[in-house]
Amino acid sequence: MILSPSLLSADFSCLGQELAQLEAAGLHWLHLDVMDGAFVPNITFGPPLIRALRPGSGLFFDVHLMIEEPARYLEAFRAAGADLLVIHAETDRHPQRTLSEIRRMGLKAGLALNPGTDLEMLRWLAPDLDLLLLMSVNPGFSGQAFIPQSLSKIRSTRALLDMVGADHVPIQVDGGACPENAATLMDAGADILVSGSAFFKYRPYDARLTAFMAAVQGCTERPSLVNARAWRHGVSQSV
Ligand code: DX5
Ligand code: ZN
Repeated sequence: MILSPSLLSADFSCLGQELAQLEAAGLHWLHLDVMDGAFVPNITFGPPLIRALRPGSGLFFDVHLMIEEPARYLEAFRAAGADLLVIHAETDRHPQRTLSEIRRMGLKAGLALNPGTDLEMLRWLAPDLDLLLLMSVNPGFSGQAFIPQSLSKIRSTRALLDMVGADHVPIQVDGGACPENAATLMDAGADILVSGSAFFKYRPYDARLTAFMAAVQGCTERPSLVNARAWRHGVSQSV
């Protein structure tokens, strides 16, 4: 399992220090939740904040775009220092074009699905995907309860991706993840867990990372996880 802590739950008064502590604690990924107040009922931050954090951090910047018509901003997020751009299927009428554009820029391309969004489109978009994000809460806020039926959706997604020859595409699960449900999520097919409130509330961060990793110790790793582990900050841009 890869743990991607969500910046949304970090201390915004000292983000540079927070990122340095994450790296020192052994984290490799950082999940950045961009919200526009239109697609979701909350506003967070955009490219300027990511640009400010980039020079001081070697973390892999996993940027979750909860914004309408994300294709308008791809270049701004690339220039700011994103490594992975995840767009929501519900925000883009031409996701195949946007995903291939992200890859053309040298970044990893991800698609996110809301809890109520069907999987069918994955049959046709799988060749353009580096990562699939399943929302296990309705996007907009951290600290919400995990939606129980997300578990069977994770299983169905893994089965579908494997069936269409996309066994290398990792599944990221976002919302309500914690050490208590981490093994169940991973057994269902999750490779990458996003954690906001269940991570940042518990210091020190190295002990919290250990708690998450200990929880999934007996779980089997999939080729999709091995693939995602090979991604590193700076590597995707140089492709
Ligand atoms: C929700 C965000 C999530 C959120 C996760 O819209 O996409 O990344 O920060 O927070 P927790 O882990 O607290 O549910
Ligand atoms: Zn997110």
